[in-house]
Amino acid sequence: MQIFFVYYSRAKRILHLCVESSKVKASDNEGNETMRKHVKGNVSWVGYLDWELETFHGDDYSIFHGSSQNAYLIEEEKTILVDTVWTPHHYDFIQNLKSEIDLKKIDAIIVNHGEADHSGALPALLAEIPGTPIYCTAMAVKSLEGQYGKQGWNFHVVKTGDELDIGNGKKLQFVEMRMLHWPDSMAEFMTGDNILFSMDAFGQHYATSELFADLAEQDVLWHEALKYFVNILNPFAALIPRKLDEIAKLNLPIEMIAPSHGAIWREKPFKIIEKYAEWAKAYQEDQVTVVYDTMWNGTKAIAHAIEAEIKRQSPSTVVKVFHIAKSDKNEVMTEVFKSKAIAVGSPTAINDILASVTAWISFAKSLKFKNKKAAAFGCYGWSGEGVAVLQKELKEAGFDVVDENVKSLWNPGEEDFAKVPELVKALLA
Ligand code: FEO
Repeated sequence: MQIFFVYYSRAKRILHLCVESSKVKASDNEGNETMRKHVKGNVSWVGYLDWELETFHGDDYSIFHGSSQNAYLIEEEKTILVDTVWTPHHYDFIQNLKSEIDLKKIDAIIVNHGEADHSGALPALLAEIPGTPIYCTAMAVKSLEGQYGKQGWNFHVVKTGDELDIGNGKKLQFVEMRMLHWPDSMAEFMTGDNILFSMDAFGQHYATSELFADLAEQDVLWHEALKYFVNILNPFAALIPRKLDEIAKLNLPIEMIAPSHGAIWREKPFKIIEKYAEWAKAYQEDQVTVVYDTMWNGTKAIAHAIEAEIKRQSPSTVVKVFHIAKSDKNEVMTEVFKSKAIAVGSPTAINDILASVTAWISFAKSLKFKNKKAAAFGCYGWSGEGVAVLQKELKEAGFDVVDENVKSLWNPGEEDFAKVPELVKALLA
């Protein structure tokens, strides 16, 4: 099913790109739709809709439904640009911006976060309008100067509570979002139109021409919002309730949340905030995820015996099974996040476990899952260290590891399958 999902998504994207290619203009504007999209009042989206993106953070995050780098143009008495786009799209971004406004009209640039997907067009933009004030956190100055060198940019460091008057009776109120997800992260609330520019928080890697979440495909939108939370924000989940409380205490009358990736939350914007509050508290559903790699299908047979036994002992529990080496790790981690327990299998190989499983557990460790049980299983032919290695590494990755396991010499037989009910009982307890 997982493989089907991956191939279906890719086929859908290729079909989409074929349709898109018929729309490409003679200019260097491939992949970007019309530049300006109205958001609210005098605020426009001026970002980059990245239909072709296949991976993010190098190849560490899989993208199956495109993405966007959202930049926003505020045209009140003052003209403010909120963020830019990733370096490869800087030319399109600046050309498109020029087609909309005289760049010299930009009074200030807000840099909410120094990561290259949002700051990549900044050097080229500032070459056109040197000296333009940049509002950002102190950490963002470090990040920008670290990446682009000390170029004498006109930084104005802001912190939570600072405000920028943008005219017409409106202002931007800054809120530091430290470690959500970088030390330099920041958001701001625009009074009057009551828009929270939330940066990466509340985003999704999802390209939608419709711009707004209420117009997007809901299943895809919410899956991508969850996948984004799990793979980008969950390591910092412990900080989220405190930050949400802090924002709540500011009593901001939020009517819209405009993140830096994906769709803008226009209808019931508090729904995504409530979801974040729920996801940040050691979230789990009635689900168990079984993951394994296998050499000669013995460990695979145990994986499916565990799957069948979970359904026998608890018919309402959702069970998902993934072959680690053949499945997308970000999608699998999203399933692990939803699970109350996992079972992880690997045969013993060279006194250890398979490298695919080692890498998988290492990634799971970095995501800092909480409140999840884990069990180990696997086949061996000679020395048989696999199960003990799995148990140790799963403990180090923060799982509550149960003692019950299945360790099978050569191929699993009756006596090995007889251990599966106890393992499952311990996981479901
Ligand atoms: Fe979308 Fe952390 O950059």
